[in-house]
Amino acid sequence: MNAKVNISNRAGATFPVRRMNFNFENVPEYWMNGSAGLTHFMTALSALFPAGEKLFIDSVRAVRHYPEIKDNEALQKEISAFIGQEAMHTQEHVGFNQSAQKYGHDVKSLEQHTDWLIQGARKVFGKVVKPFGMTQEMVDLTATTALEHFTATIASELLRNPHIQELMTDETMKYLWLWHAIEENEHKAVAYDVYEEVFGRGVKSYALRNTALVVAMGLILLEQSSFVYKLLKADNKINMKELGSIYKYAYSPSKGIIAGMAKEMLMYFKPGFHPNDLDTQELLETWKAKLGF
Ligand SMILES: [Fe+2]
Ligand SMILES: [Fe+2]
Repeated sequence: MNAKVNISNRAGATFPVRRMNFNFENVPEYWMNGSAGLTHFMTALSALFPAGEKLFIDSVRAVRHYPEIKDNEALQKEISAFIGQEAMHTQEHVGFNQSAQKYGHDVKSLEQHTDWLIQGARKVFGKVVKPFGMTQEMVDLTATTALEHFTATIASELLRNPHIQELMTDETMKYLWLWHAIEENEHKAVAYDVYEEVFGRGVKSYALRNTALVVAMGLILLEQSSFVYKLLKADNKINMKELGSIYKYAYSPSKGIIAGMAKEMLMYFKPGFHPNDLDTQELLETWKAKLGF
């Protein structure tokens, strides 16, 4: 593994911020088991993070001084650590994305497209819901809350799915993804708790968070799939072999990471849902020990 880890708990939250410093210099072009299809599938996910995590940070920061939570010391500590973790994820995924450029994979333009989509979507929804008395800050935080359920779910699937772990044949990349997965599970309740404290647990907040999940999932699916297509096409790798391995490890019911997420994703629609209903404590302890945290 090629990373220095510096763990700090200055925020005093229930989880620490781990300062990482990965060196992606020696990551091979097709770091997922030599497969272009699987590597591009994961790179397409990585391209979503910088702009996505900026939205997460900005939206939580924008409401942290609201009267409902400004004196909630425990939650304020969680927010600080949440921001610290997400900022670190962005830094390291940007580092990896840049390192993929040297092989001619234009991940930078995919990052920019994600930012364009997020900024466009949040402004459109801000306008649509304004007549119903909802603010831009409410739209942004709702989107973050829904997307954090997605990241927590894909993260726990990564920690549970041995097929995907075996395919991560480059140690640095495996460490990057598993570290990120651990932290997404550590902070999975923060945005949700902020959302409930600020916007309540009523019918309006329930309807809004569910709508946000459906819209956000639709956009992510389209965006990520189009990125996979663009990466494969530019790389001249659109063929049955690559598409077959993407199907097998992403979408097939037996091994696929997306298929494996379905049940947990749907739990979000349950009235009274809370992210901690999905108990990942043991899973986290196992993986933290494996990564030496
Ligand atoms: Fe993250
Ligand atoms: Fe997150």
